[in-house]
Amino acid sequence: MAEIVIVENAQAAGELVADAIASLIASKPDAVLGLATGSTPLPVYQALAARAAQLDLGRVSGFALDEYVGLPVSHPESYRSVITREVVEPIGLDPKLIHVPDGAVDTIQSAGSEYERAIMSAGGVDLQILGVGTDGHIGFNEPGSSFASLTRVKTLTEQTRRDNARFFDSPDQVPMHCITQGLGTILRARHLVLLAFGEKKAAAVAASVEGPLTAMVPGSAIQLHPHATVVLDEAAASQL
Ligand code: GLP
Repeated sequence: MAEIVIVENAQAAGELVADAIASLIASKPDAVLGLATGSTPLPVYQALAARAAQLDLGRVSGFALDEYVGLPVSHPESYRSVITREVVEPIGLDPKLIHVPDGAVDTIQSAGSEYERAIMSAGGVDLQILGVGTDGHIGFNEPGSSFASLTRVKTLTEQTRRDNARFFDSPDQVPMHCITQGLGTILRARHLVLLAFGEKKAAAVAASVEGPLTAMVPGSAIQLHPHATVVLDEAAASQL
């Protein structure tokens, strides 16, 4: 079972996970971070940015979990833009070492296997930050995703498109497809750190952490991992 840590609030969770990342970097200056988008990991990135001056970040690399398909990278809501704005710039990571899956339509056939190769040649992800969708998705692995899946194109569910509509001018602007690391890719990371805050995530957290292993709850894949930490506030832990 994953290690569950219940903290006072999202800010405390951010500090806790930033501590873990700081000690990883201290022992391994070329650490490979698995980066997640969404609002959940923001306190981690803010806490890391606040202590960036004390960290030697020059050799730290990162791999994002996912990207929309067909959204120009220059779009402010492409995950490339989000990772640049919310992670790379505030923390001061080397942009050349930060990878995001390629969501361009014309190269989509080979983008998944190229991303897998890039992760492998970096030596694999040391610490993977994860959020969870209200339907239990991790990355963009929607319900029904194989536990063995690798980086590939997926169709977003209506629920996820509705949840993410807040980042776009109108719901119909949310892309229909994405490219996401698979559950198999995520499970290869050496340490998984899943964060969730608020009542809205309580059911997905309970199903992921304590429910049966099922492709219908992609987050339940973390139960297969030997080193998974789940950091929650009281509300997100309320159904455990
Ligand atoms: C998106 C991302 C996921 C993220 C989820 C939850 O769908 N692809 O990686 O976990 O949103 O978002 P939030 O953290 O904003 O609730």
